Amino acid sequence: MTGPFKLAPLPWDDAALEPTISARTISFHYYKHHQAYVDMLNTLVEKTPFADMKLEEIIRATAKSSDDKEKKIFNNAGQVWNHDFYWRSLSPTQTKPSAELAGAIARDFGSTAELIAQLAEAGKTQFGSGWAWLVSKGGKLSVTKTANAMTPMAEGVNCLLTVDVWEHAYYLDYQNARPKYLETVLANILNWDYAARNLSRESEAVRTAAE
Ligand SMILES: [Fe+2]
Repeated sequence: MTGPFKLAPLPWDDAALEPTISARTISFHYYKHHQAYVDMLNTLVEKTPFADMKLEEIIRATAKSSDDKEKKIFNNAGQVWNHDFYWRSLSPTQTKPSAELAGAIARDFGSTAELIAQLAEAGKTQFGSGWAWLVSKGGKLSVTKTANAMTPMAEGVNCLLTVDVWEHAYYLDYQNARPKYLETVLANILNWDYAARNLSRESEAVRTAAE
């Protein structure tokens, strides 16, 4: 889809992730923050060649730009994609890794508990705003973190799951306790079905998040 861009629907109801994430947090995070990134992106790309590009193409084209306007375009485009990916990384119903994913986790981390510990550590140690990620490269899983609007997808790395560690993701529910937010999300609402589907699509690493 090219511009003007629209806010993709949430994959569940506003209150579906309670008590881990409140409807109030979703109401600010999705309807205010995520919407604002979409609106700003549309304003910035208007009457530019970016208006005819897909979101993923814009992200890759502007990720390393030193031009001030292109940096702003990247920040908003990255945030639109990352939020689409984050919502789908969370599930109100319990999921568990598929056999293929469970095998990859055992091979590359030793256990799901170790993978979760590494994701928590990545999220806790991301200084300032950013994202913790489970990614795959050549089928091998690893944990990484990005600052601000950066996304592994910009470099063609296949994303499996993400957790938003911007303050707006947790402040209303957990105040400044980012570790508590991470531990609660990682223990209760990760969408392993989405991760498994994403693992099987590594050949399309640069793809729409909101499918
Ligand atoms: Fe966010």
